[in-house]
Amino acid sequence: MPNPLSADRVRAIEARMEAIRERTLTLVAPLDWATLRRQHIPILSPMVWDLGHIGQFEEMWLSQAAGGRGPLVEGYQTMFDAVLHPRPTREKLALPADRARLMEYLGRAREAALAALHAPSEGADPSILADGLVFELVAEHEEQHQETILQLLQVLGDRGRDDVPYVPPLRRPLPEPRDVRPGQVEVPGGSFLMGHAGPGFSYDNERETHEVDVPTFRIDRFPATCGEFAEFVEDGGYGRRELWSKAGWAWREETGSVAPRNWSRTGDGWSVRFMDRRVPLPGSKPVVHVTYFEAEAYARFAGRRLPTEAEWEKAARFDPATGDTRRWPWGDTPPTPRRANVDQLAFEPADIGAYPEGASPCGAEQMIGDVWEWTASDFTAYPGFRAHPYAEYSEVFFGDEYKVLRGGSWATRPAVARATFRNWDYPIRSQIFAGFRCAADG
Ligand code: AVJ
Ligand code: FE
Repeated sequence: MPNPLSADRVRAIEARMEAIRERTLTLVAPLDWATLRRQHIPILSPMVWDLGHIGQFEEMWLSQAAGGRGPLVEGYQTMFDAVLHPRPTREKLALPADRARLMEYLGRAREAALAALHAPSEGADPSILADGLVFELVAEHEEQHQETILQLLQVLGDRGRDDVPYVPPLRRPLPEPRDVRPGQVEVPGGSFLMGHAGPGFSYDNERETHEVDVPTFRIDRFPATCGEFAEFVEDGGYGRRELWSKAGWAWREETGSVAPRNWSRTGDGWSVRFMDRRVPLPGSKPVVHVTYFEAEAYARFAGRRLPTEAEWEKAARFDPATGDTRRWPWGDTPPTPRRANVDQLAFEPADIGAYPEGASPCGAEQMIGDVWEWTASDFTAYPGFRAHPYAEYSEVFFGDEYKVLRGGSWATRPAVARATFRNWDYPIRSQIFAGFRCAADG
């Protein structure tokens, strides 16, 4: 069939795929095979599995679905299937025996994917080719797995582990800190248009756009900082039952937690570790690696609450002056290094106040990047939801087991950090780059 994509579009997609792969390989370049092959913690895959799965996903959607080809390597379609093999079991699989064989598979899947990009199969479903949808799906899938790999890279130096901290192969400097004080901004009541309107790619769970009436509320101008969170810690917050939900207290009791995951007692204060750098508690950086339960308890301590997902999105995108919903907090163009800390290479959150140019119309800053923000909302379908094209992406996770996180982190690639993107995880998870900001009734 004639390619529905223009020659320019094909070239742009090819360049994007190449750049993403280069980033994936740059991130894992410093690691030896044993480190890549090991299951370091049960909730994160061996990196070899993540990498093979990146190839398998590309093979399934591009080589097979778009290109009409058969399997490239016997057994890989099932070995690297996320649904068939839960994370704790992945180390036991007969994964590729060495780096060369892993790279060969990634290369073969890529070659077949590019062939499908240049000449899609006659039999391919037109709805996955339209607008390059399936290519962006595969691109963002790899970008999301880069962030999963970064979660594991941060875990490598955790206390009590015998592996060594990850040393980033390059770093992008963060903007100069600016002297600011935490505070709140008001978001006027009324309805706004929530969800992804296009043009451009979105996951099924971001659609359809729908009007949501959100009464006047206040939201923190910045994510909660380590300095603010330390007040909760020092005030005995982890021992005060009344600040925690029932499930949150059960988590606290079971884990014996007394501070966020990446904090350590150093003398009479705290230090935190970002990859290979241990620093005294950075009071002006957003707190990161906190569970939903810790966020919820802090909010109660502070006399506030977590925002709902609709409140978060309205604070990030709604422009009261025009009544319109912007694509990004600052307007309709993608992030730049002056607007948001995304794209992985900072390897840590920036200080609050570092991105005045990234403010939303209501004055909330750093809603995109730095840390994912826990919201009070369960991960549920928007009205009119239709699973497409990949039913295992969202639909199987809807329900009250998962909480939604918004805004992306420093480890999120810019395309994925769009203001409509919905991340979700269990409320006990803290290996993700998660923080929060509080809200209050208006
Ligand atoms: C959206 C981050 C929850 O990692 O489970 C990757 C993304 N889905 N491969 C996940 C995803 C399939 C997903 N999250
Ligand atoms: Fe995946």
